[in-house]
Amino acid sequence: MQHGDIVVILDFGSQVTQLIARRIREAGVYSEIHPCNADFEAVKALRPKALVLSGGPSSVMDQDAPPFDPRFLTLGVPILGICYGMQLLAHHLGGSVVSSTDREYGRAEFHGEPSCPLFEGIKDKERFTVWMSHGDKVQALPEGFSVMGSTPSVDFAAMGNPSAGIYALQFHPEVAHTENGALIISNFLFKVAGLKPGWSMSSFVDSTVNDLREKIGGDKVVLGLSGGIDSTVAAVLLNRAIGKQLYCIFVDNGLLRLNEREEVIGYLEEHFDLNVKCVDAADLFLDRLAGVTDPERKRKIIGHTFIEIFDKEAKAIHGVKHLGQGTLYPDVIESVSFRGPSAVIKSHHNVGGLPEKMNLSLVEPLRELFKDEVRKAAYELGLPEALIWRHPFPGPGLAIRVIGEITRERLDILRQADKIVQNELIASDWYRKVWQGFAVLLPLKTVGVMGDGRTYEHVIALRIVDSLDAMTADWSRVPTEILARMSNRIINEVKGVNRVVLDISSKPPSTIEWE
Ligand code: XMP
Repeated sequence: MQHGDIVVILDFGSQVTQLIARRIREAGVYSEIHPCNADFEAVKALRPKALVLSGGPSSVMDQDAPPFDPRFLTLGVPILGICYGMQLLAHHLGGSVVSSTDREYGRAEFHGEPSCPLFEGIKDKERFTVWMSHGDKVQALPEGFSVMGSTPSVDFAAMGNPSAGIYALQFHPEVAHTENGALIISNFLFKVAGLKPGWSMSSFVDSTVNDLREKIGGDKVVLGLSGGIDSTVAAVLLNRAIGKQLYCIFVDNGLLRLNEREEVIGYLEEHFDLNVKCVDAADLFLDRLAGVTDPERKRKIIGHTFIEIFDKEAKAIHGVKHLGQGTLYPDVIESVSFRGPSAVIKSHHNVGGLPEKMNLSLVEPLRELFKDEVRKAAYELGLPEALIWRHPFPGPGLAIRVIGEITRERLDILRQADKIVQNELIASDWYRKVWQGFAVLLPLKTVGVMGDGRTYEHVIALRIVDSLDAMTADWSRVPTEILARMSNRIINEVKGVNRVVLDISSKPPSTIEWE
């Protein structure tokens, strides 16, 4: 694919490596993350125009420090080392690194060297706030390097060798807490490395459409459309590339939100002329889920049933060769990380095993994109805001929000309550401020009074969270008037509910979903 200049980031395991790639892409330059033990020749073959060495939790002096091929330092392209990456440069280029007695974590006041090109354009170069997170620090600079900045506790908080185009920072310019961080990264790209911006969503869409056409030729592709942004954007891109050779399958499992099928699929069929087959499988799913209360069993039943139906429908399309999927870049990075995929806590998230079982080759048009870039691609493709900003919805749907037994009656109660939560978030302009907001139906009844009578009815919990990537989350501080309106409406309008409670747990230790 045509990206213009490429910057390669070698990942040494920092929690925020992905942010480096995002900042570089936001500056208009394509960047890819490779594990620190990536094959040197393979990376060289990409002809990167600059290299970034990420942070990481290890010490360069550890016996089991992450593997690193020093030939990367001879590529002859500008290099930016960040935190661990700075220590690694010092270690390999003849400087020295010491362990600090305390790990420094948090904000620090940074004094930059005014002549350093990384700080060009910063108003108060000699004093701005940066974010530190390190145990070791550089004690002696390698030959050819000079100090480019310090903090009260770190003499060499930045170093550089201008003639070699190598710079390093002890702090993290990629995190939002570092003032001028985005400018520092842009300065590295444009002032130090002399790159040109060539990465934009319109160029991505054009080149992806061309690539897809070339790769797929006259073949047929099948894709499971869930109504979520990822599979929708993947479908619309494929549709633009190969038109009716794309066969979308939408499985209605009876666990969808109110009017979901009409709102999403109806829209796509109408505006994008997508080939969509809707399979009404609610009875099959709900029969198999009858009496099941264990969350893991629910997930497994739903996963297997989905594969079974999808497989059958795909086989009914004669001669399908490829399976389209909305895999995103974070999943790709995760699966090639030198630490290996991180532990799976719940048996989600997406239905594994499909391609192997079906003997199809994968087509993943979004595998280079971050979530926010998928949204930009969606705008580029002309999708409406309501679809672009829909909250994430789990594959097992309402099954994992009806706690305990799933019945049609309980699903109906939840659907109505959930619609009120969605509507109130939208009406108050809070829908886009939060990561996700929804209702959960609890497996218990409580006593209430209505008119002169005593009631004994269901409880709805409100789960509304802020998050950046769903890895961590905090409960959203939604104004109490909005919560009050949700509660009043649910109790008044949803028959069978007499109590609403608010979930005020963060993740970790809780999860976003209740099951
Ligand atoms: P948890 O509950 O693990 O959820 O904090 C994190 C994010 O993932 C969504 N989620 C799922 N998505 N299949 C999916 O596609 C699943 O089985 C699944 N379970 C949870 C959840 O809504 C949240 O955005």
